[in-house]
Amino acid sequence: MYSLLRSALFRLSPETAHHFSLKSLRSLDRLGLLKHLVKAPTPQPVTVMGLDFPNRVGLAAGLDKDGEYIDALAALGFGCIEIGTVTPRSQVGNPQPRLFRLPQSEAIINRMGFNSKGVDYLVHQVAQMKYQGILGINIGKNFDTPVENAIDDYLIGIQRAYAYTNYITVNISSPNTPGLRTLQYGDELQKLLAALKAKQAELADLFNYYVPIAIKIAPDLDSDEIAIMSEVFLDQKIDGVIATNTTLSREAVQGQQYAQEQGGLSGRPVTQQSTYVIQQLHQHLAGQIPIIGVGGISSTQDAQDKLDAGASLLQIYTGFVYQGVDLIQQCQQAKK
Ligand SMILES: Cc1cc2nc3c(=O)[nH]c(=O)nc-3n(C[C@H](O)[C@H](O)[C@H](O)COP(=O)(O)O)c2cc1C
Repeated sequence: MYSLLRSALFRLSPETAHHFSLKSLRSLDRLGLLKHLVKAPTPQPVTVMGLDFPNRVGLAAGLDKDGEYIDALAALGFGCIEIGTVTPRSQVGNPQPRLFRLPQSEAIINRMGFNSKGVDYLVHQVAQMKYQGILGINIGKNFDTPVENAIDDYLIGIQRAYAYTNYITVNISSPNTPGLRTLQYGDELQKLLAALKAKQAELADLFNYYVPIAIKIAPDLDSDEIAIMSEVFLDQKIDGVIATNTTLSREAVQGQQYAQEQGGLSGRPVTQQSTYVIQQLHQHLAGQIPIIGVGGISSTQDAQDKLDAGASLLQIYTGFVYQGVDLIQQCQQAKK
């Protein structure tokens, strides 16, 4: 059924198909039809970062950047919805075309560049949602904020998002905002995380509840880099690590149409690289900080591999685009 729908959708440009699918899903949900079309998942509750998730399989950031489709996406049976990346101020992102399909590898290359209606718009959407499950807000920096001042943007994000979310993801791993990934290293990382933890403590006092902070990292890291980052995460008592974002590597897609487009590659080609990062992180974090595994999950086996590597929760994006709702339930069959 989805494969038929997919061949129709894939005749449209990727970005048109994206908006059309999400708007259609939202209309079906508002008409009360979606719940009749999708089988409710079997509850498999799990507590991670102090939060109770109904199952381990969530939606990764970037599909609903502005929080406009939360209720419709939640109706598909995800255990968690992560919205964003949101920037403090609205920005259009990179010029189109900026999204490319590589169907032979069930992959996508994107260089969206944080198209965002801004954090005020996003929290307004969240305030209107009916969804009562777990929501994450993923925050980033504006394109025109110099990397030296990135901390200011993340502090605005956390401050504005805090009262509206169950957890906050700090995205320092998008390859499409120049300089962003430099925040993953050395002093920059220490300084950023220390500032975020201080703000979290201040807001926890103010609101009288604690919102965990997860850091989202790239797959393009070697084992030494992962070891150093892990020390900083432990030192700063970060609440969760999301591994991974998209890759800059093109090794697995050489020769395919669009393979040379700039941007981050996701889907099947990133599966092993992302699982490797999870394994390495797990060794260093030794269960003290939970890992959310994401990157090329396209089957029950991929989901199982991520859990076996040390992930406590999972997220999907590209696999969902290629396989539809069925993939959510397939991934829910993987057991910890
Ligand atoms: C079109 C597109 C847009 C994305 N936008 C974001 C984003 O705004 N923030 C973010 O943290 N990750 C973003 N991602 C990365 C995904 O959340 C995920 O980490 C990555 O694609 C690997 O998972 P996958 O192979 O299941 O897609 C995006 C991915 C795609 C394909």
